[in-house]
Amino acid sequence: MNQLVCVLMLGICVMQANSNPSISEGLGRPYLMECFEEAKTLVDDAYKYSRDESLSRVRREVVSPADILRLMKQPRGDSRSAVRSADYMAQTLRLLHDRVHRVHKRSLNATDLLPREDLEVLSKISGCAARVSDPSCRTIQNLDKYRTATSVCNNLMSPRLGASNTPFKRWLPAQYDDDVALPIGWERNRRFNNFVLPLVRDVSNRILASKDEGLVSDSEYTHILTLFGQWIDHDLTFTPFSPSLRSFSNGLNCDESCERSEPCFPIQIPPGDPRLPSGPDSCIPVFRSAPVCGTGYSEYNFGSVANKREQINTLTAFLDLGQVYGSEEKLAMDLRNLTSDAGLLRVNDKYKDNGRELLPFSPLHANMCATRRRVTNDSNAQEVPCFLGGDVRVDENIALTSLHTMFLREHNRLARELKKLNPWWDSETLYQEARKIMGAYNQVFIFRDYLPHIVGDEAMSMKLGRYPGYDPNVDPRIANVFSTAAYRFAHLAIQPMLTRLDENYQENASNPNVPLFKAFFSPWRVIFEGGIDPLIRGLVGNPAKLGTQENMLVDAVRERLFQFVEHLALDLGSLNMQRGRDHAIPRYNAWRKFCGLSQPSNQAELAEVLNNTGLATRLLQLYRTPSNIDVWMGGVAEPFVRGGRVGPLFSCLIANQFKNIRQGDRLWYENMGVFTPNQKKALSTANLARIICDNTGISRVPKDPFRLVNAENSLVHCSSIPRVRLSPWRERPREGPDEAGAGKEQQCGQRLNFTLEKPIACTFYLILIVFAGTNAILAAIAAEVIIMNVFFVSSFGQYIHTYIFITYELIHMFNSHTCPQILPTFLFNKLICKY
Ligand code: HEM
Repeated sequence: MNQLVCVLMLGICVMQANSNPSISEGLGRPYLMECFEEAKTLVDDAYKYSRDESLSRVRREVVSPADILRLMKQPRGDSRSAVRSADYMAQTLRLLHDRVHRVHKRSLNATDLLPREDLEVLSKISGCAARVSDPSCRTIQNLDKYRTATSVCNNLMSPRLGASNTPFKRWLPAQYDDDVALPIGWERNRRFNNFVLPLVRDVSNRILASKDEGLVSDSEYTHILTLFGQWIDHDLTFTPFSPSLRSFSNGLNCDESCERSEPCFPIQIPPGDPRLPSGPDSCIPVFRSAPVCGTGYSEYNFGSVANKREQINTLTAFLDLGQVYGSEEKLAMDLRNLTSDAGLLRVNDKYKDNGRELLPFSPLHANMCATRRRVTNDSNAQEVPCFLGGDVRVDENIALTSLHTMFLREHNRLARELKKLNPWWDSETLYQEARKIMGAYNQVFIFRDYLPHIVGDEAMSMKLGRYPGYDPNVDPRIANVFSTAAYRFAHLAIQPMLTRLDENYQENASNPNVPLFKAFFSPWRVIFEGGIDPLIRGLVGNPAKLGTQENMLVDAVRERLFQFVEHLALDLGSLNMQRGRDHAIPRYNAWRKFCGLSQPSNQAELAEVLNNTGLATRLLQLYRTPSNIDVWMGGVAEPFVRGGRVGPLFSCLIANQFKNIRQGDRLWYENMGVFTPNQKKALSTANLARIICDNTGISRVPKDPFRLVNAENSLVHCSSIPRVRLSPWRERPREGPDEAGAGKEQQCGQRLNFTLEKPIACTFYLILIVFAGTNAILAAIAAEVIIMNVFFVSSFGQYIHTYIFITYELIHMFNSHTCPQILPTFLFNKLICKY
């Protein structure tokens, strides 16, 4: 029936179009609405089907590794609305396009037949318009003091810049197969620089495969450096998949067919694959990343120049510990303990870890973490739900879960300490101040302790040295190439085994080491197998894997990713390259050029860049030309820069990204006014070792947890590691919590945190009585009241100076019965500073 109406209306509009081909006459609003309703039903049904099917698979315990990845990458909350709106819009325009095409028998863009007003209506009803309109920053409280959960209004000129659920930034234009939305290599025989691209699984088998026996460990850095990288990534990037299991256009289930049909982009298995059967019906299912509203086939863009498909980052671009606090308002509230006034994060109310807090459980119905029975083969084993964190990947592996747990505890420890210092602070202030301190710790750890080991000395000094100050014109958004390629460098630094160590840093039979492939989505191991302490000791007490050219990706992630039983396990190397093609990321040489590096054009030049003839030969047997190499593959194949753990290309891309994140963040901890000088000084002493000491039962740690224990970096007792002094956060009761804002202090002087000692004050009054009479006492008292309530003074000298000045002005007023002239202006200015 719907179709009949559509066709009838189309007939009318075709007649109109024929009699007067003016575009502005268009297809007509009712026709558009019909197609929108149909698209909406299509999308809603597909989402519902996928949700029900996923739930049923989880309940029947038949989830495949591809299901696990798909479920992990499901958009939730506001991200889901963003993805749904994009799907509504894209499907409406697809239906319009298909039907116009059917009737006209030639290709026409639906957008050519829709007047602009209709497209605007579609943009509104699909929800797309709301995703690009700028929110008002005026109504948001404490904007200079605290971050919003979504980071809207970090940049006051462009409020959505760096906010969650906005598109990734392109540093180089996308290179889609059809120039708009089809992934690179969608058309298998398409040639790039005269050559067909190799299958990603073939590249993985021939270049990335390694044997655990040949594994080389890092001689300098510990495994916590790797996991801390993943921790940072989960603060910065999350690219959601479309929630639909099946193709919108033909209803095909992505995991039941090897056909390429949006959103299915399966990985084809090459002949002779050592693990997987090859052939037309054998593939690893891959779901495409969801598109941004109005990009790709939506054929309608909101004012930007190109209309190529873009991908969504559901996280904020800022280093704001979104993985602890959430990047959307609702999740942020769900993570808080709102039943007490202590500003705490919610903790698990069923289990503890040797008396210490654990993360709360996720309320999701589908329990992806019920893996215990399958892994232990014990059908009576008790299962537990997944943990809930600020980022959905909290359960991805138990080492990562331990970091989440430790930082959750640190927040609560800080909130409790702040409450002791300022008992009158309300829950909101305690939460926000603890969150702010945590965010600063993280920034200190990343720039001072982590990045130098990754990007090396040169990039550190050229791009990430001294803080240059906030620049609102710097775009902090995460680049697509950063999340899809460069920052995945550390997949090569993952150890195949998660070590668990006892108090003597020894392996212990009671909680043995866990092979990584048995540590995915296993919160039960944290709960029932000795908590986080053995895992944290394992991370700081053991080396990272060294990502060498001969030994790249361990089998735990290349052959057994998310495998719990005999299902088709995923291959992280293939996924990284397939994702790069899905996002149409330009290839190796384009990025070398972008970074001002040489662009090898043949085997000899590639061998020189890689400092390895054998590897260059093997790469070119697959790709035929260096220009075609997938950028992730090329990047991880490069030898390390001096002092770093990535090659020159990734060093450049990673350093660029962190430079932008720091300089484009209005609330960066070093930016003027974010913290007081005393607070900043205290924060500079923050230390990851101390966080471990304060939030676990561990009593000895390496001074620098990122470096291997040796003579210079010995295991030291926690008592010898200084704690960040919180006294600079102490406030005087009468000032109230609202006055902690450091922004004003920068402009108006620092808040006075001392009172005039009683004997000094009495002597002062006595002198006044002797020399100036009783009016002077009144003046002095008034001056004291004014100073305490209005002024910000930073030193005792300034206090005395201000005191004498006001007293003098007041005496003058009392004696002469005239109004002082300077004082009101002075007070007025100070009041502006205060409020
Ligand atoms: C046990 C360790 C790890 C596992 C199992 C793991 C697994 C994964 C998986 C399955 C994906 C999604 C692949 C896709 O379909 O595109 C992914 C994405 C990613 N990984 Fe890892 N990873 C690990 C460690 C790391 C580390 C150490 C880093 C960086 C230092 C990292 C950085 C990334 C990044 C940047 C993404 C893209 C995230 C997004 O935008 O959605 N991962 N990882």
